[in-house]
Amino acid sequence: MTHTDLRKKFIEFFTTSSRNHKEIPSAPLVPENDPTSLFTSSGMQPLINYLLGETHPLGTRLVNSQKCFRSQDIEEVGDNRHTTFFEMLGNWSLGDYFKKEQLPWNFEFLTQEIGLDPQRLYVTVFEGDKSVSKDTESIAIWKEIFIDVGIDAKVGERIFAYPAKKNWWSRSGEPENMPPNEPGGPDSEVFFDFGQDLKLHEKSPFKNQKCHPNCDCGRFLEIANSVFMQYQKQKDGTLKELPNKNVDFGGGLERMLAATLDNSDIFQTDLYSQIIETIYKVSGKSYKEEENKPPMRIIADHLKAATFMVADKVEPSNKQQGYILRRLLRRAAVKYRLLTNVSITEQDLLEIVESVLKTYENTFYFKNINHDVIKNVIGSELFRFTLSLDKGMREIQKISRADGKIAFDLYQTYGFPLEITAELFARKGQKIDIKQFEQEFKKHRELSRTATKGIFKGGLQDQSEETTRLHTATHLLQQALRTVLGDHIRQKGSHITAERLRFDFSHPHKLTANEIKKIEDLINKQIEMNLPVSMKIINLAEAIREGALTVPGVNYPEKVKVYSVGNPSTGSGQVFSKEVCGGPHVDFTAGLGKFKIIKEEAQAAGIRRIYAILQTNVPDKQNLAQKRD
Ligand code: SER
Repeated sequence: MTHTDLRKKFIEFFTTSSRNHKEIPSAPLVPENDPTSLFTSSGMQPLINYLLGETHPLGTRLVNSQKCFRSQDIEEVGDNRHTTFFEMLGNWSLGDYFKKEQLPWNFEFLTQEIGLDPQRLYVTVFEGDKSVSKDTESIAIWKEIFIDVGIDAKVGERIFAYPAKKNWWSRSGEPENMPPNEPGGPDSEVFFDFGQDLKLHEKSPFKNQKCHPNCDCGRFLEIANSVFMQYQKQKDGTLKELPNKNVDFGGGLERMLAATLDNSDIFQTDLYSQIIETIYKVSGKSYKEEENKPPMRIIADHLKAATFMVADKVEPSNKQQGYILRRLLRRAAVKYRLLTNVSITEQDLLEIVESVLKTYENTFYFKNINHDVIKNVIGSELFRFTLSLDKGMREIQKISRADGKIAFDLYQTYGFPLEITAELFARKGQKIDIKQFEQEFKKHRELSRTATKGIFKGGLQDQSEETTRLHTATHLLQQALRTVLGDHIRQKGSHITAERLRFDFSHPHKLTANEIKKIEDLINKQIEMNLPVSMKIINLAEAIREGALTVPGVNYPEKVKVYSVGNPSTGSGQVFSKEVCGGPHVDFTAGLGKFKIIKEEAQAAGIRRIYAILQTNVPDKQNLAQKRD
């Protein structure tokens, strides 16, 4: 089976009339308006507002394949199954169906649609804790499902109950780690058994025990996860039932594909085979040699992740997403240099990038994106890095005492990622001053954590009143820019925290003080008029016909939500702004406060960036009600 077949089968299985799901496009890898997350790391992340109760324009049953990136898995890449980039097949019930539909559908898809042998499937459920009871309902459903295919599924043999560490899902893991407002719930996972002959179990931390689905030796691979997303963490630390009982299903495309091929190495599926083949072509190193496998897998994963990031407009830099991209490219380059043991240029790696683009040519991922732009961004970063790579490697050879400070200098001078330097020292059998190295490493890690606070483990997408108000203000800003500067203004980026909004837009010149004042005055006038904010769900084509603004480059579903500020039907004046947007927004503009631009600067050639705040003196609820009347 190919990756194109598998993706298609999954979408068709759920969109068929009896299951009646609507397909939604993959959201970008960099989430818009979510300052707590650097990257989209799961299928549920772009849907979080809907899981919390917002209405989705396409209804209560959704299906998709979402591109994801998990930086916390970077150190694990190199084995048969870990990657930083992956695709997650997802189906969603937003307060619609629940366990008794989800688990049989999941099993039917795995066994009948993609032909996995039921004998090789094992399942897990939540064993319960002090606040949520054991998931006996899922156990009963699984028993029935297995009986139907002639398997007597006993707990402890076919069905395993595990604690929250393994069978509870939220973006921050088990309940005690969830921040207030974070949704989560117990989950039920399906594992595919690749068989005893893997002999990997001897290396497992559980080697003295009988192998089981969560053993981690590689024999059992998790291929499906149904999360029963029905709780929300409260400020007092307790869990409260959400208004809706949701299903959040996620299945890694790469892993599911490996199971269909009965090959536990996901790098041998066609999601990687062409890329591995190209690495072989340019480096001359064969994937058949065991020692070449880890570096070839790392190169393939990192260059794939980098290609997807650049397609989603991330550029290498020293902070946030750009820093992760830079680290991926440099790690790939060093691994490639070590693999070939000869000098390399960016051209070698660009051939591999080309093979990533080819791998996905039958998908929509790179369809409307200029491939040369992707190669230029990656090429110029790698050009600079590979120029000093040999020199950096020679420096490492010369160093007789592996010192933490030196490692940091190597990072600063040659851009050597610290973990690569540590690995190279270790290879030469040098005595590493581990304590000092760890201190430097810790400092560095803290630095990058500060830059991306709360990000790697997910964290709460901010839906506070402050960000909601700033979100509505962003719509007013975009329209005010268009009124004052012209209709060439289009959104190029938006980032909102509880303190301020940041808005990037196309415009060739610096704004004058007069223009800034006009924009502020126009926005404050709309706020004073206390315009109503209304939402309707219509077809995308109709929304565009009506003049609703969209964000260039974003893939929208066929039905969308359109938010309008100012609605003639209420007698509150003309529509001032109309945008396609997921929400949420305030109901009336008077609650926003006073709009003030605090900074205007160039973001890139032809793109300006505005930072703005809403000054307090926000009318309280009573005032607001009086104004509405
Ligand atoms: N949210 C779950 C996961 O990421 C299932 O989609 O595994």
